[in-house]
Amino acid sequence: MQIKVISVVGARPNFMKVAPLEREFRKYGRISHVIVHTGQHYDKEMSEVFFDQLGLPRPERHLGVGSGGHGEMTGKIMIEFEKVCLELKPDMVVVVGDVNSTIAASLVARKLAIPVAHVEAGLRSFDETMPEELNRRLTDCLSNLLFVSEPSGVENLRREGIDMSRVHLVGDIMLETLRMCLPQIQERERWKDFGLKKGSYALVTLHRPSNVDEPRSLEEVIEILNLLPYPTIFPIHPRTVKRLDEFNLKNKMESVRGLKLVRPEAYIDFLSLMQGSALVLSDSGSVQSEASFFSLPCLVCRENTERPIYLEQGTSVLVGRNRERIKELLTRIEKGEYRHSSRLIEELGMNVAAKTTKIIAESLGVS
Ligand code: UD1
Repeated sequence: MQIKVISVVGARPNFMKVAPLEREFRKYGRISHVIVHTGQHYDKEMSEVFFDQLGLPRPERHLGVGSGGHGEMTGKIMIEFEKVCLELKPDMVVVVGDVNSTIAASLVARKLAIPVAHVEAGLRSFDETMPEELNRRLTDCLSNLLFVSEPSGVENLRREGIDMSRVHLVGDIMLETLRMCLPQIQERERWKDFGLKKGSYALVTLHRPSNVDEPRSLEEVIEILNLLPYPTIFPIHPRTVKRLDEFNLKNKMESVRGLKLVRPEAYIDFLSLMQGSALVLSDSGSVQSEASFFSLPCLVCRENTERPIYLEQGTSVLVGRNRERIKELLTRIEKGEYRHSSRLIEELGMNVAAKTTKIIAESLGVS
């Protein structure tokens, strides 16, 4: 009998996580792996381009949900995903990360008594003002299989009373995707398209509500960009573009010395830019792991992180929007004084998808 597994994707960071899973699921003749896209992210450069570059098959269903308030978006995904589950009758639903699509799909599946596997379970920032923190906690409560990327995740789940027989420490799937695409990344040399030299520029991404949703915070972000002693490439997220317009800060942003604002970059292009950069400044979750993989200094514009291993063993440093702290770190980085990544970081990206799919297959009686 054929077994059906649905993987749900919705927002940009989800697509990379499903790519290595898709590759591994294909090795099981008895498993049909189906991708469902909620449509949370819909711009070509936030979605489609990732399917092309990662060689992901087109989603079997696209829910076309689009943007909206948290309740509206989560609710719409639930309504549409329930229909898909009733029609396709999956034996398991796989959700990844911590976006609204993740919690919406998990809740639907469990209410229909379909088991849920959560990839990137257990991560906690302990900051309940982050929408993602609520999504993480709730999804983990609902999941039958919890695939954890780093040891802190196991401890968090233990503390929360999750049944440990459901928890599997498999490593960071984003690093596996990176490794899978490394030859193309190394070949790309994207910085040349911007007339830059390798190692001579900074790469920035900033989109968290805590940094861009208030005029004062966004102004502080602009002041921080003014501190960077390098030409800077900033592939700008639609949320940030919208806020700059709303708060009348577009001109101020555009007048930052040496700053080049560009549209969101595709996966290979973005990682090529990262590999060629001198440093990274970001409020993203996975950029912390990717910068650590390349052993590049990564200034994290947040007060907390759900990925502490990249602070302990990698190259990330939490700087919030503290200008003094950033200035001090920039001086150290210019002198070449920053902590490089430990070997553990590389190992965290080994065979993550193979381990994950094997456990899922076994739980479904497939070997
Ligand atoms: C979402 C995730 C966040 C993740 C980020 C990565 C949640 C709660 N947040 O945040 O964890 O780090 O994706 O990108 O799920 N928009 C477009 N085009 C798009 C997508 C969005 O224009 O393709 C605009 C919309 O107007 C929307 C805004 O960007 O209102 C924000 O999008 P949304 O999906 O709400 O959250 P993100 O900030 O992208």
